[in-house]
Amino acid sequence: MRQRGISGHEIEPKQMTEPITLYSAEIDRDPFPAYQNLRDHHPCYWSSSANIWFLSRYDDVSKAAQDWQTYSSTSGNLIDEIPGRTGGTLGTTDPPRHDRLRALAQVAFARKNLEHLVAPSRAVAARVLDQITARDQFDFVGDFSSQVTVETLFTMLGLPQKNPAEIRHDVVLAISTDKAARGKNPAQNAAFQGLADFIAAEVAHRRKNPADDLITRLAEAQIDGDRLSDREVVLTTSMFVVAGVESLSSFMSIFAMNLADHPDIRRRIARDPTLMPQAIEESLRFNTSAQRFKRTLTRDVEMHGQTMKAGDGVVLAYGAANRDERKFPNAEVYDLDRKPTGHLGFGAGKHFCIGNSLARLITQTSMNMLLDRIPEFSLTRRDFDWVPSSNFRSPVTLPLQIG
Ligand code: HEM
Repeated sequence: MRQRGISGHEIEPKQMTEPITLYSAEIDRDPFPAYQNLRDHHPCYWSSSANIWFLSRYDDVSKAAQDWQTYSSTSGNLIDEIPGRTGGTLGTTDPPRHDRLRALAQVAFARKNLEHLVAPSRAVAARVLDQITARDQFDFVGDFSSQVTVETLFTMLGLPQKNPAEIRHDVVLAISTDKAARGKNPAQNAAFQGLADFIAAEVAHRRKNPADDLITRLAEAQIDGDRLSDREVVLTTSMFVVAGVESLSSFMSIFAMNLADHPDIRRRIARDPTLMPQAIEESLRFNTSAQRFKRTLTRDVEMHGQTMKAGDGVVLAYGAANRDERKFPNAEVYDLDRKPTGHLGFGAGKHFCIGNSLARLITQTSMNMLLDRIPEFSLTRRDFDWVPSSNFRSPVTLPLQIG
């Protein structure tokens, strides 16, 4: 017997078994078995518990990411959207407004304009490595990736330095989700508001005292003769902090986990640092930190025998698409020599990650320094916690043994 879901969709009985339970520690830790089930048996899947469709095959996700006219971001791109964010950030606008906002920020994120960040990121990596190498064990998240990420990003944005542990704590809270709360989680909202308040004070300061930094550029920018409102500058900058700190420090941590799990690959890179860029690309394919984003349909779409209705939410599961055998042979293997083209670790289309060059640069610089100083490391245990998040895959800690 067919049943009706919350939004009126008919649900096949087999779908009631829920091949993916979005709000579960299992998905936070290891979503890949569920992704395989989705790709092979439910390529266009309505989840009645999450009240959203899932696309998981490479071709479907890639096409949807590029079709912003059908798959809109204006209702938010987080599965559990943070209240008050939509329409004010790159990830929550469609063209033409999105394109104009993006053009304002793009220049600061262009590869040639990022070279000045190599020296500060090397300096912070060298400093924290001095502390780490004096020990037998360290937490890669707290002792390394958060520190490098927060200091370098704050330098780029022109924000005064803050304690990286506190920033990471707030950012993790801002992206933590659970089904029961669904946008009404006071701790999550307070953490995001706290970051926004800190940035709002900086924006107000720049309006009176312009400086040569990204916040000033956004504060002084004009779109169609209008200046961006304080709210737009604050939200856009807040998302650079949240997306930057969270995605990048988590990606670096998962990358370190891959290297701990593949000692032969790690030793090859330690011997030949020119292999680092291709190792980063394969990690972005194999298990990126930014796993799933949301779109909202502007029209009905037929796919794999299902009808998705205008107004429905759709998850673009980039992490699932990146493991699709139809696109990447032996997709479940972490292969240094694969050189994957077209992976969706940074998304695709209009919303392709604006921070991609920055993320690649900082990861390459700091991880080469780490492998130079610490070529041998392993996980001390596997039962570490993962942040509960419907979008991101993010280890809370990554305990490593040196040697
Ligand atoms: C390895 C680290 C990173 C990964 C894996 C990553 C991944 C992604 C992905 C998948 C998207 C597409 C979202 C969508 O389709 O809705 C995205 C967008 C975005 N990312 Fe990143 N990101 C990373 C680092 C960064 C950094 C360092 C920054 C900024 C400092 C950043 C800022 C953004 C912004 C602002 C967007 C929205 C772009 C738009 O909608 O035009 N990301 N990122």
